[in-house]
Amino acid sequence: MSDSIPISVPEHVAIIMDGNGRWANARGLPRSMGHRKGVEAVRETVRAAGDMGIKFLTLFAFSSENWRRPEAEVVGLLGLLKAFIRRDLGELHRQNVRIRVIGDRQNLQGDILPLLIEAEETTKDNTALTLVIAFNYGSRDEITRAVASLARDVEAGRLRPQDITPALIDARLDTAGIPDPDLIIRTSGEERLSNFLLWQAAYSEFIFVPDYWPDFSRALFASTLKRYAARDRRFGALSASQTAAVGS
Ligand code: FPP
Repeated sequence: MSDSIPISVPEHVAIIMDGNGRWANARGLPRSMGHRKGVEAVRETVRAAGDMGIKFLTLFAFSSENWRRPEAEVVGLLGLLKAFIRRDLGELHRQNVRIRVIGDRQNLQGDILPLLIEAEETTKDNTALTLVIAFNYGSRDEITRAVASLARDVEAGRLRPQDITPALIDARLDTAGIPDPDLIIRTSGEERLSNFLLWQAAYSEFIFVPDYWPDFSRALFASTLKRYAARDRRFGALSASQTAAVGS
């Protein structure tokens, strides 16, 4: 619907999908049902992002801290992610969606890593939306791995410390080649970043919505993008109107 598409569409939207458990609790359902409904919201959001002309959509699917949850819940979440890739990969590929995965790949057990790699390999030449799945992801861990990789280059004499730049750090992050998020959305009313894209969020806009993730819909996404379009992004400089006022 053209009237629901805002004028200024962000190139990259990142989402902290929070509130699956509370959505289920509020209905007297097990938490696993909240996660299941959460996957439906993922499907709708990916489709909507493509339709709205967003080029990158990053979803925080599983954090490096989520392993601390009860084993049954961890197994359930991994199962849902695997089922999503198995069932939806063909359709995403047909929609020209490219999948990228960020997060630590070391020490992952079982068939999750081969599946994630298959999703990346199958879709690597696709050119519509890039769906970035943050799995076993923690921003401090990502930055630590990037810094360690630079330190190894310095130790080996391939790099001088004075040549380290923000761009070089960018290139060592899991998100290398992905533009910084213009907009970070968090559902469920919580207002924090929870170790998500700390480096990349330097100039992101944040929008917190009270709705639980399973209730996130195309309409809610569109209204969030309208709020984003009204923001004045200055990246540390002055806005056009401020610059005009200074010049007058
Ligand atoms: C937060 O809800 C959500 C998660 C920890 C996981 C999100 C995962 C999915 C939606 C499913 C798999 C992902 C993909 C990309 C298919 P919570 O459990 O922390 O909710 P609460 O704060 O209300 O307890």
